[in-house]
Amino acid sequence: MVQFTLPKGSKPEQGKTWEGPKEPNGKKAKRTKEFKIYRYDPATDANPRIDTYTVDLDSCGPMVLDALIKIKNETDPTLTFRRSCREGVCGSCAMNIDGGNTLACTKAITDVSGPVKVYPLPHQPVLKDLVPDLTHFYAQHASIKPYLQTKTAEPEAEWKQSPEERAKLDGLYECILCASCSTACPSYWWNSDRYLGPAALLQSYRWIADSRDEMTPERLDDLEDPFRLYRCHTIMNCANTCPKGLNPAEAIGNIKRMLVKRGV
Ligand code: SF4
Ligand code: FES
Repeated sequence: MVQFTLPKGSKPEQGKTWEGPKEPNGKKAKRTKEFKIYRYDPATDANPRIDTYTVDLDSCGPMVLDALIKIKNETDPTLTFRRSCREGVCGSCAMNIDGGNTLACTKAITDVSGPVKVYPLPHQPVLKDLVPDLTHFYAQHASIKPYLQTKTAEPEAEWKQSPEERAKLDGLYECILCASCSTACPSYWWNSDRYLGPAALLQSYRWIADSRDEMTPERLDDLEDPFRLYRCHTIMNCANTCPKGLNPAEAIGNIKRMLVKRGV
C-alpha cells in the first residue's frame, strides 16, 4: 500500500528533542540552529514524527546536507537520507527543506530563518525518514526511452551535430533526475499512475529536440495521450522548484506545440 509523507488530514506527531551540542569545556555552543526532521520507519512506526536536533554552526559546514551528516555522525546514527556527490550533480539528496523541494547539498543553512524543517519529497511512498521510494518515477523515466534511437546506418566515426543543433539541448541535458519538480506538481500528486510528470517529460523532449535522434514521430505518438502528457496544466511549480534552474513546463509546452503542428 502506498504511504504518503503527509496523509490527508493528519500531521506528524511531535517526536524527540535531542540535547543540544556542548563545547569541550561543557558550555553550551554559541551559534546554533534547530533542525526539525521528519522521521518514519514504516516497518516499526505507526505514525511519522518530527524530531528536533540542535546543531553547532561553528563546527558544521554551510549546507543543510552538512548538518544532516553531522547529526547522523554525532547525535543520531539512525537518521536516514540519501546523498552521494554533495555538489549538486547526482540528484540523490533531493528533499523538502523549508517548504520547498531542493537539494540538501546546495541549500545553505543561512537561507532559512528560524528552525530548518526537513521532510522527504512530497507525495511519494517513504522507505525511511528522508528516503522516498522513487521506483515508479524511474520506471516512468525508462518508459520514455531516454537514449539515442536511429534508423540510418551507424556512421564510421560519430553522429554529427552542428553547434546550433547542440544548443537546442541547453536547458534540457542538465537535468539530474532529482525528482524535485515531479513531486512538487499537484497534477503528478493526483495522477502519477498515468501522468508522466515534468521530469520524465523534460527528458522526453531532450531526445525529441536532439537532431541526431530519428524516432521523433514515434516519441510524439507515445506522448499523445490525455494523461501521459496532457495532465500538465502549467501550474509552474516544476520550474519554480528545480534546483538546476530548468523549466520542464516550457519543454512540455514545446511537445504540445509539436503535436498541434503535426496535426494541422
Ligand atoms: S528538471 Fe530539475 S527538478 Fe526536475 S528532475 Fe530535472 S533537475 Fe530535478
Ligand atoms: S548529494 Fe548529489 S546532488 Fe546533493
